[in-house]
Amino acid sequence: MDAHEPEAPGTHTSNFRFPAGFLWGAATSSHQVEGSNENSDWWAWEQSGRVTEPSGAAADHFHRFREDFDLARALGHTAHRFSLEWSRIETADGEFSADGLAHYRDVLEALRARGMEPVVTIFHYTLPLWLAERGGLEHPQFERYFERFVERVAREYGDLVRWWVTFNEPVVQVFKGWILGQWPPGRMQDFPAGLRVLRAMLRAHVRAYYALHARRPDAMVSVAKHALALTPCNPRNRLDRLSVRAREYLFNHLFLDALHSGAMRVPGLLWERLPRARTLDYVGLNYYTRDFVQNTGLSLPGLVGNVCTLEHHGHIGKRNELGWEIYPEGFAHFLRAYARYRRPILVTENGLPTNRDDDRWTFTFLHLWQLARAINEGVPVVGYLHWSLLDNYEWADGFKARFGLIAVDYATQARTIRESARKLAEVIRRNEL
Ligand code: FCB
Repeated sequence: MDAHEPEAPGTHTSNFRFPAGFLWGAATSSHQVEGSNENSDWWAWEQSGRVTEPSGAAADHFHRFREDFDLARALGHTAHRFSLEWSRIETADGEFSADGLAHYRDVLEALRARGMEPVVTIFHYTLPLWLAERGGLEHPQFERYFERFVERVAREYGDLVRWWVTFNEPVVQVFKGWILGQWPPGRMQDFPAGLRVLRAMLRAHVRAYYALHARRPDAMVSVAKHALALTPCNPRNRLDRLSVRAREYLFNHLFLDALHSGAMRVPGLLWERLPRARTLDYVGLNYYTRDFVQNTGLSLPGLVGNVCTLEHHGHIGKRNELGWEIYPEGFAHFLRAYARYRRPILVTENGLPTNRDDDRWTFTFLHLWQLARAINEGVPVVGYLHWSLLDNYEWADGFKARFGLIAVDYATQARTIRESARKLAEVIRRNEL
């Protein structure tokens, strides 16, 4: 707005104003909200008892998506991120289910009918069981299976979807599944296999990028990159600082750098060209917290070090109900850091688990504040999607973590809009903070 132009009632220039057309909304993922995803590797993992509780009916969003979208719309959301459940769509090798395909078309049409821009995640951690049983992400042909799936969904939904996320948090998935062993396939400290899987995901992304653009030249394709703020346990210790640098690169930069530059690099270990460079149309950013890192050696696991946040730094700051520190400064740090790709940035997740909804609003406000500052400094942020629209199944932590703008009573599946959601709705309505 011109400085001399009269302002609209209720606004004044000392507020942060978000860009026109800013995408406001929330995110979910299929396995966490739909319920009864019985043909996925995660469902099988839950039955083996290695998690707090199984996902069961979850939030029954599979049947209730229209009502849930009505609520999102009433809260002023203009965009919504969700994921396709591969195991519902491709029920066996090369067999695509007409019902599965029709379901997500209904979901997309429901969003469009409510004026919400869909942001579609193609892969949010869960694999069809048939593929997992053949090796899943470690299958030598994984990239081809993925490409075939992407070609199909691009053909089915390309008319309705512009914004795509190929992989959700690839590095987190590798870390949980191949290093910590908490998620399928439950490997521990298997760095060589973990790197092979990262490589497979990078190559699969490049194939997906071309498949999506072939169907829809104006597609906006990215990954949802988890960024974790990192601080050395002892800032005066050179080795702790070195471990922070190693983690910072492996966790926060390697994947995006590879897609941008067209080469996967692990200094001293690996350098490999990808089929193409520049396969990010925007940067999807998931931001939650920070970790403190302590060095444990100079070989690869030791170099990456240990997280000693709760052990040595439990007294610092405020924590959410899963013990993660609330650290809004880190959010601005990554918004600035990822601006170097010279692509728009879409916040694809940001939120916290809490039973105290006041804390949810405080968290959201502080993060929006950082976001607004970054925008004012010229970082091209195009939207903010809160995690999550609904309370949901938080993987190995089960249902106790309450991430929703909308509360879910799992006994009755009743929905209740939380106060934080209404406060966010007011920010959305004014498009300023
Ligand atoms: C992210 C995941 C998402 C959810 C939130 C809390 O790392 O992408 O599925 O579990 O954390």
